[in-house]
This record gives sequence, structure tokens and C-alpha cells, in this order.
Amino acid sequence: MTILVTGGAGFIGSNFVLDWLAQSDEPVINLDALTYAGNLENLASLEGDARHRFVHGSMGDRDLVQRLLAEHRPRAVLNFAAESHVDRSLHGPGAFIQTNVLGSYELLEAVRGHWAALPASDQAAFRFLHVSTDEVYGSLEPGAPAFTEQHPYQPNSPYSASKAASDHLVRAWHHSYGLPVLTTNCSNNYGPYHFPEKLIPLLIVNALAGKPLPVYGDGQQIRDWLYVQDHCSAIRRVLAAGQVGEVYNVGGGNEKPNLDIVHTVCALLDELRPKADGSSYKALITHVQDRPGHDRRYAIDAGKIERELGWRPTETFESGIRKTVQWYLAHPDWVAHVQSGSYREWVSQHYGEQAA
Ligand code: NAD
Ligand code: DAU
Repeated sequence: MTILVTGGAGFIGSNFVLDWLAQSDEPVINLDALTYAGNLENLASLEGDARHRFVHGSMGDRDLVQRLLAEHRPRAVLNFAAESHVDRSLHGPGAFIQTNVLGSYELLEAVRGHWAALPASDQAAFRFLHVSTDEVYGSLEPGAPAFTEQHPYQPNSPYSASKAASDHLVRAWHHSYGLPVLTTNCSNNYGPYHFPEKLIPLLIVNALAGKPLPVYGDGQQIRDWLYVQDHCSAIRRVLAAGQVGEVYNVGGGNEKPNLDIVHTVCALLDELRPKADGSSYKALITHVQDRPGHDRRYAIDAGKIERELGWRPTETFESGIRKTVQWYLAHPDWVAHVQSGSYREWVSQHYGEQAA
């Protein structure tokens, strides 16, 4: 048996591939376009491991996906690939429509064609798991109940609108064509291999470099944080036991205002990497102009996945954020390569022809 993962060189995808192969010998075909967010250094520990086959290409390349499906006959396709950064979507929405909407459509069509030709027993066992976000639900008022799977879709950014569109396509491919799909909508992840354009890794790498820690607006926007390996375990659980056609919200039950996150990261760095002059990293906090249309609050009600599939996160925010800061301190080379851009040379240096 084999699974095919898209976007497995990104933050969550690479954590998923590493966790998967730490717990199972089932091979992974990893299809990734290696945009700026794709980093094969994340998967350096799998070099030479025959269970991991990396393919450099786009999920939007229907011919390529069809060939991979025919060759490897995976029992499941897990779609992590996306443009994922809200700020980038505000500056250049086109890439988000191209990847998240049209790319997902091409992927669904390739998978549908493959699935439709399978013998009935293989069709029944097949799964298409779509990894999505809580941002499709829009923004919550203070005190409003957390997002359930029934919450109306109210996306507010080009990123969340494009993810919402892909969720709708996945739903429609199930209802119209019978494709056995599963969708997960998860809250904000953090952990190892997180690209330092997103809040938590940006805070860590900027603080270590003595650069300002930018806080958008008043810093009172709330996100519900989940350690990335808990997201990965939720996806494995949904793949194993989720009901076809169902949606599962995934979250950590860790609602925190951004400013609290900034203070926590600074306090951990003050403890683990104290500055020579004894001052706190908090002195670097800088309030900057707010993100346009900035969603004020996200919060996930993860009751369904807990009740029906028995999934719960294992990390508290306190344990997860400490591990995360420790990981960045222990991996200065990874940080340096991301910052210099040299991580993008990893493909030709380490994968050669296989990745081409
Ligand atoms: P990321 O930006 O770190 O990684 C995305 C990966 O997709 C990269 O490796 C990139 O090269 C690849 N990719 C982009 N376009 C592609 C294409 N056309 N074909 C193949 N690969 C392509 O993103 P992430 O944070 O790891 O998020 C992964 C998924 O999880 C996304 O779908 C995102 O919407 C969703 N999600 C993310 C979070 C979060 O907090 N990061 C939370 C909930 C859901
Ligand atoms: O909720 C899930 C989503 O979480 C995922 O779908 C997205 O892919 C992922 O990027 C993330 O989106 P956010 O916009 O919430 O993440 P980001 O790390 O960009 O920002 C987190 C919060 O911190 C948000 O309120 C904006 C704020 N922020 C962010 C940056 C980069 C700052 O205040 N300063 C910053 O420099």
C-alpha cells in the first residue's frame, strides 16, 4: 500500500511525512512544486529512504498526477499543497486562485479519473483527504461559540476564499461523482520547519537576529494554536476512521491573543538564550500597521473529531511552544539556509535527477 501526498515539502506536509514514516512503513509519494514555501531540507533525514519518493511537480499538472496514480496506485491522496500565507494573498491573489482553486480542481479531476476505473473493492477503500483551514469560517465576535462544522462559510481574505472554494469543490466531487472524500479544517499550527513568514517562527528568528518583532494593530487578534504534530495525528486518524463525505474541525483549544504569543516567545528566549546585556527580547516588540481585513478571532470546536474518532491533542500550548523555540535554537543551519535562500539549492544538490 502507498499514499500520495501533495505539498509534502511544506511546513505541515513535511511534518506529516516525517511522522508517517516514523510510525509506518507504508511508502509515501510526495508531489511538491517547491514554491518558496517548499523546503526539501525538512526531509533531509529521509535521504536514501526508499519509502519516500519525492516528485518535483504541480498538483495542477493533470497528466503528471494521472501518471503517478497509474504507476503507484495509492490507496489515498492527501492534499496539503497550497499557497498558505494570508499577507501574500493580499498582495498577489492570483497565485492563490491558480494553486488553491484551479490546482485543486485539476488534482480532483485526475483523482476522479483514476478512482472511477478502479475495481469496486479498491474504489470503496480509496480516500481523498483535503487539508483545509478554520479561516473559511470567517471571524468570530468575542464570546461567540467556537466554529463547528455547521458554521457558515464566510471567508474574508483571498487566501481563505480560495481555500473555501477548494473545500466546495471537494464536497461537490463527493456529492456529484461519489469520490470518497474527507475534509479537515484546522486552526493555526506551529512547530518545527515553519517558514519564518508566519507569526511564531518570524518572532523567533527576528528576535535572535535583534530585529523588530512586528505586531499588527493592537495585537489583540485571537488565534487557536495547535502543535503541528497534533494536526498530523488528527489527519492520520481521519484517514483511518473518518466517515466518507464528512468534515472534521481540528483545533488545540488554545485561544490566545497575538500579544500573549509575542510575550511568551520573548520570555522563553530570555530563559533559553538570554541576551548578553541582560535586556529582554520584549524591547524589540514593535506595533505596525494592521493587516487589511484582519480577522479578529478564530476558535475551533473540535468536539466532533474527539467524540467520533477519539482524537485529542497531546501537547498543551506551554509544552508545544517550548519545544518549538528549542527546535529553532537547535537548528541554526535550517534557519540560516531559509534566510539566505540557499535551501532552494537542496533539490539539485541532494536529489539530482529524481526531483527533476
Ligand atoms: P506551506 O506554505 O508551508 O506549504 C505548502 C506546500 O505546498 C509547499 O511545499 C509548496 O511548495 C507546495 N505547493 C504549492 N503549490 C503547489 C502545487 N501546485 N503542487 C504541489 N505542491 C505545491 O503550507 P502549510 O502551512 O504547510 O499548509 C499546508 C496545508 O494546510 C495548506 O493547504 C493550508 O491551507 C492548510 N492549513 C495550514 C495551517 C497552518 O497554520 N499553517 C492551518 C490549517 C490548514
Ligand atoms: O487559521 C489557520 C491559518 O493560520 C492557516 O490556514 C494559514 O495557512 C496560516 O498562515 C495561518 O494564518 P494566520 O494569518 O492566522 O497566520 P500568521 O502567522 O500569518 O498570523 C498569525 C496572527 O499574527 C495573525 O493575527 C496576524 C498576526 N501577525 C502575523 C505576522 C506575520 C502579526 O501580528 N505580525 C506578523 O508579523
